[in-house]
Amino acid sequence: VRDGNGVKGLVESGLSKVPDQYIQPPNERIPEKIISANSVDAPIDLSLLDGPSRDQVAEAIVKAAESVGFFQVVNHGVPIQLLDSLKDSAHRFFGQPVEKKAAYLNGVSPSPFVKYGTSFVPGKEKALEWKDYISMTYTTDEDALNYWPNHCREVTLEYVKTATEMVKKILEVLIGHLGVTADDQSREELVDALTGNKFVNMNFYPTCPNPDLTVGVGRHSDVGTLTVLLQDGIGGLYVKLEEEEEEEAAAAAGGKQAQWMEVPPVPGALVINVGDTLQIVSNGKYKSAEHRVRTASKQSRVSIPFFTTPLPTQKIGPLPQLVDNDDRVPRYRDFVFQEYLNNFFGNAHGGKKSLDFA
Ligand code: SIN
Ligand code: FE2
Repeated sequence: VRDGNGVKGLVESGLSKVPDQYIQPPNERIPEKIISANSVDAPIDLSLLDGPSRDQVAEAIVKAAESVGFFQVVNHGVPIQLLDSLKDSAHRFFGQPVEKKAAYLNGVSPSPFVKYGTSFVPGKEKALEWKDYISMTYTTDEDALNYWPNHCREVTLEYVKTATEMVKKILEVLIGHLGVTADDQSREELVDALTGNKFVNMNFYPTCPNPDLTVGVGRHSDVGTLTVLLQDGIGGLYVKLEEEEEEEAAAAAGGKQAQWMEVPPVPGALVINVGDTLQIVSNGKYKSAEHRVRTASKQSRVSIPFFTTPLPTQKIGPLPQLVDNDDRVPRYRDFVFQEYLNNFFGNAHGGKKSLDFA
């Protein structure tokens, strides 16, 4: 693994059982049949935001962000063909010989804007995640076009641009609902500040001989504002239904199991989820959703999350509009986003414990 072979290399070397370091403790394993029969609601048609039913669509977005923190969108303005090209480019990248991919390993990568790796924070994890990934970020278009792997650079940059337009539309709805009004010039500034940094990961989950013992990705919430996820048709993404605090305590006392719900692949759709930053900024109104990925034994899976986050130098905290009167107390403290990043990427995935930092 350390030499850049990744999980993919491990699988290709031939194995009938996963090595011990991938075996999750029993309470982190993902049963094949998930307890809840529900799956997330039908996708929201984003094109309707520009028409007479804007209010209903906006309400559906707000409701989803307040409850599950996950929803899917269609007619989102990102061409379907671009989504297909993006998935193809991910397959092409991971299909290369090991030495090509290993060139982007931490420490040898020609640029801080690209990193290839396996699992999340291997040095801190009790058990490793069954995935390889490449992470791409940039400050100028030239960075992307010069340094991102040539299988993905153009298509990923184009995707980032169109997906950003969509993210901003959705954020305007969500921020607007918090009382930051449209004629308020600061609304646009706020949306820009919350999406000042962008990065794209391409995840490759090789086939796994033991889906009952492993995870593709362990329980976690995302660090940023909104994440846009493109998944292929394989499936395996699950989101946890948050319970009220009393219910949660009662459930824990009674040994009751958490409810998980599938986010099923929908052709042409994009998955949107709230990250920790938006939960903090909204003072807890919008839910950063805990999610995880099951491995599959028959087919490898590709997923491509696009993360929007504040810049590292950005100051973050609950919006003043939400906490400036006596009966509305801030649930989180103010901090500089870099501190949050250090905390998030310095620890293994562990449900929503990243939010304890705030
Ligand atoms: C992630 O949340 O880290 C990946 C989600 C996915 O692969 O579906
Ligand atoms: Fe995630």
